Amino acid sequence: IRVLSVASEAVPLVKTGGLADVVGALPGALADEGVALSTLLPGYPSVLKALGRARAVHTWPDLFGGPARLLAGKLGAHPLYVLDAPDLFTREGLPYADAAGRDWPDNWRRFCALGRAAADVAGGAVVVRGKAQRFDLLHAHDWQGAMAAAYTRYAPFGGAAVPSVVTVHNIAFQGRFEAAIFAETGLPSRAWHMQGVEYYGGFGMLKAGLFCADAITTVSPTYAREIRSPRFGMGLEGLIAERGSAVHGILNGIDGELWNPAHDASLAATYTARTLGRKALNTRALEAEFGLVEEDGPLFVAITRLTWQKGMDLLPEMADHLVALGARLAVLGSGDADLEAQLRAVAARHPGRVAVRIGYDEGLSHRMQAGGDAILIPSRFEPCGLTQLYGLAYGCVPVVARTGGLADTVIDANPAALAAGVATGIQFDGVDAQNVAAAIERTVALYGQKDDWQRLQKNGMKADFSWGASGRAYARLYRDLIG
Ligand code: ADP
Ligand code: GLC
Repeated sequence: IRVLSVASEAVPLVKTGGLADVVGALPGALADEGVALSTLLPGYPSVLKALGRARAVHTWPDLFGGPARLLAGKLGAHPLYVLDAPDLFTREGLPYADAAGRDWPDNWRRFCALGRAAADVAGGAVVVRGKAQRFDLLHAHDWQGAMAAAYTRYAPFGGAAVPSVVTVHNIAFQGRFEAAIFAETGLPSRAWHMQGVEYYGGFGMLKAGLFCADAITTVSPTYAREIRSPRFGMGLEGLIAERGSAVHGILNGIDGELWNPAHDASLAATYTARTLGRKALNTRALEAEFGLVEEDGPLFVAITRLTWQKGMDLLPEMADHLVALGARLAVLGSGDADLEAQLRAVAARHPGRVAVRIGYDEGLSHRMQAGGDAILIPSRFEPCGLTQLYGLAYGCVPVVARTGGLADTVIDANPAALAAGVATGIQFDGVDAQNVAAAIERTVALYGQKDDWQRLQKNGMKADFSWGASGRAYARLYRDLIG
């Protein structure tokens, strides 16, 4: 079966977070299940550059105010389509914002165009040797892809809607705009309805997708339950609850080619669960890279967007606490300017014990998983989370809040789990300074019990978070919908 996946990011072409890892890995995960997945991305400068000279397989004389072309290329070994719409996507800056971090004011136009293009392509707009290349199903990701489901439902290419799935990677980002844009979306007037694209008096792009999709998935079973409540659903809980059995939680996998300490070229030393002793070489290298002193206590790392979601406002206080316990902390992150400044201040307070790199650095993120003893993830909500999965694979023990995908992937080192020899990390309830401090204390104490600690590391490294089971779950869902 042929599926068109539409998203705003995919590794290795453009990434701001875990969405890109997942969209980049899906074609490979589904190929094993007999599903041919093509990916459609916006033609950002980085994507066009990587594509090189590519063939145009379709054109739109006027797509939301300007001409657009569909270019065909490859995402790894899999088919890629790129929407080259210079007026919309050829700009320097970030995918959703200018270089100063301000959202592009015409984001609604940019991602309506992406959705319209996806619905056209899925419906058979690309013609090869006289034959329309129709897809069996449309799979849209997050609010930036979600309008694809609305266009195929309300204004399908060729008159017949393609079945659609919308995956929620993070319900906090909803793509909400002024009601006034509706007139320019090209949708029929019947779509302007609570049972449609209208959302609390405005225009809701994720809302539209969740309403129109034949099935909704999100990236962990626990998050699928959580978003039925106001605290996690953030306004969409009613719709999620109403969609009932059409909502599925399918855990993300990790790409075992890109994230494997046995053959990761960015490390000082490769290692496996059997040669775990070699991990220390990476720790020494990381200490040198961050200017940290060698100590008996554990080296904590954090690799993250610096936002409230990730609990990073608690990091300065945590840092003081863990230094007092003889531990050290290395942070890699970017995001809120306030949090960046606070982190710089805390590093200055604890030279040699706390170090911070502000920015985005893929290679360093790998070296930190390899060199770190434990990774701190105190998220207030976490649809799936990938950094705990990378931590498990690299023997960097995850210390996580019990929410969303973090709850589903880490086995807490409580006495029963330790006795049974199955624990993989530390979980705590309630993200506040006190609970995080207690979790850090537990981690430092466990680190001191070398046998238990090694058991944790090895259990994590042996756990299977490859795409196998999740690829099968998506394939089953696609087949059910196609009928
Ligand atoms: P989210 O998508 O909510 O940010 P995830 O844990 O799913 O959270 O995915 C985050 C991804 O981004 C991981 O691949 C992580 O390694 C990466 N990442 C986050 N911040 C940085 C950074 N500053 N530098 C490099 N990689 C980062
Ligand atoms: C989002 C979520 C994160 C998830 C990622 C990939 O960015 O915040 O929890 O792992 O998407 O699905």
